[in-house]
Amino acid sequence: MVTVRAPGKVILYGEHAVVYGEPALAMAINKYVYVTARARSDGKININARDLRLAGISVTISENGDIIARTDYGAVISALSYVKRAVELAMGYVDKKVGIDLEIRSEMPVGAGLGTSAAVAVATIYAYIKELGYDIDKRELARLAWQVEKDVQGSASPTDTTMATFGGIMFVKPEGNNAVMEPVRPGTNVPLIIGYVPRVSTTKDLVAMVRRKYETMRDVIEPIIRSIGLITRKGREALERGDLELMGVLMNINHGLLDALGVSTRQLNEMVYAARNAGALGSKLTGAGGGGCMIALSDKVEVEKAIELTGGSVLKAVLDINGVVVVSND
Ligand code: MEV
Repeated sequence: MVTVRAPGKVILYGEHAVVYGEPALAMAINKYVYVTARARSDGKININARDLRLAGISVTISENGDIIARTDYGAVISALSYVKRAVELAMGYVDKKVGIDLEIRSEMPVGAGLGTSAAVAVATIYAYIKELGYDIDKRELARLAWQVEKDVQGSASPTDTTMATFGGIMFVKPEGNNAVMEPVRPGTNVPLIIGYVPRVSTTKDLVAMVRRKYETMRDVIEPIIRSIGLITRKGREALERGDLELMGVLMNINHGLLDALGVSTRQLNEMVYAARNAGALGSKLTGAGGGGCMIALSDKVEVEKAIELTGGSVLKAVLDINGVVVVSND
């Protein structure tokens, strides 16, 4: 039996623009998805994922090798799709179809923009491969997990899967089917407060909505995307120099541009402005938007309180430097 964990992440700069080839700057956080895998002799795949609201799902492999999910809960199918595709790709990697019990739990709100689906994909593939006694290079693992996200979402950048695999702070730039990943050494500690409200749209729908705007109003949307790319490059420099003031200013501009793309919501904007008014150096939504999470560059209790007063929940997290790891192997 093997248990692995993979971290979530926050995007400091660059979400959405990264889908168009611009870089993103992201930080892995010490909130994890845990996957425990135990091989079965009967070829069945059972998934127990209460935190992902997947409880009660039973998955079996049909004769032609397809994984078939059976569930009474329609709404959970989308989260399940990541697990299902991850298992398929892991089976392809080891070139074997072995049944497995998977237990998945998350310390993060699922689908909130903290990269839970990527962490599920990375941890599921890694747990399956490790349980069967194989090993995998981290670059290959990140590539397979990115494939899971692309297959399930239709379109995805390598950002979240890179962070769940490697941890740390990374400058990620998609180049075709490859991801250029540069670890970034921060010039200072980055104090972050994460605010959270329930999601009203999925990442898939938000990415598609921005794509439609891009295709129908390219002359308007393209400069916004390129500006976000520029902000990300400048944000990286500011982080390396330890210039928190400039990082905050750039976060505020980045948020304004994301709002212009239509991915923010009233509740996200309320948290973002409340944090600034309470003294945060900067604040922005993080992840795909449509509700979910925002980050405030601050360590002040007043900022936490201000976020809570708008109706948001506060999640405290610090940098994870390990990425995916095996936590137990019996
Ligand atoms: C999601 O965390 C970030 C997006 O840029 C989508 C992606 O990068 O795949 C919105």
